[in-house]
Amino acid sequence: MDLDDLDPKRMPRHVACVMDGNGRWAKKRGLPRTEGHRAGEEALFETAKAAVELGIEWLTVYAFSTENWRRPHDEVRFLINVIADDLLTRRRDQLHELGVRIRFAGRRDWRVPKWVLRRMDETAQLTRHNKATTVTVAFNYGGRAEIVDAVRGLVAEGARPDQVDERALRRHMYLPDMPDPDLFIRTSGEYRISNFLLWEIAYSELVFLDVLWPDFRGEHLREAVREYQRRERRFGLTGEQHGEALPG
Ligand code: FPP
Repeated sequence: MDLDDLDPKRMPRHVACVMDGNGRWAKKRGLPRTEGHRAGEEALFETAKAAVELGIEWLTVYAFSTENWRRPHDEVRFLINVIADDLLTRRRDQLHELGVRIRFAGRRDWRVPKWVLRRMDETAQLTRHNKATTVTVAFNYGGRAEIVDAVRGLVAEGARPDQVDERALRRHMYLPDMPDPDLFIRTSGEYRISNFLLWEIAYSELVFLDVLWPDFRGEHLREAVREYQRRERRFGLTGEQHGEALPG
């Protein structure tokens, strides 16, 4: 993909995405919600491809939240049996060919069918040496749950109060080697975080786009990156301090 108006030196290293609007996309077309998810899965694949082409190192997507189990039974079943199955077979092979490393983040509890856990492990194993974009699929994921799980990990290892700090907590997050997102995108015109990567997005740039997720393509990713590149990130410093801190 041609970078044309994007600055290759200021690409976000990690982009996180809340893929919202599948249901509304389907409703607008008089289709069942499940068709929105099917189209959303296609959009996810296209986005991963675009991330590879743009040289984005990390892409993390919110596929299924800890709250999504409360949706109608048929919709949950479809997301797991059809969409997850497709992602963990056909799409896995296509992404593997593109050099994508696939990983998963979330609670591995009794609600996730064993066959899904097994396929996730196989997928991560198969793609673990790939060098293009790392696509992390947040599945049965909740940001608060992740923080609770990290605290549990610390308690289990017998940490004393004075040993509890940000670095210690981070070691117990689901993927401690993952850099924090630089850019957080939510589609469908909603302005919410919805419990996604709460700890990790402390300093992320938030970009909200009006497009419904199934219509999301490389051009929308570029639009969000363009907006990101227009912003000045200061990490708590003043503009002057941050300018001085920048190399070059
Ligand atoms: C939000 O749209 C979307 C989801 C809850 C699922 C997102 C999943 C995918 C795009 C495919 C990949 C999925 C898996 C499980 C591997 P919504 O249904 O809340 O839309 P609405 O707000 O318009 O109702």
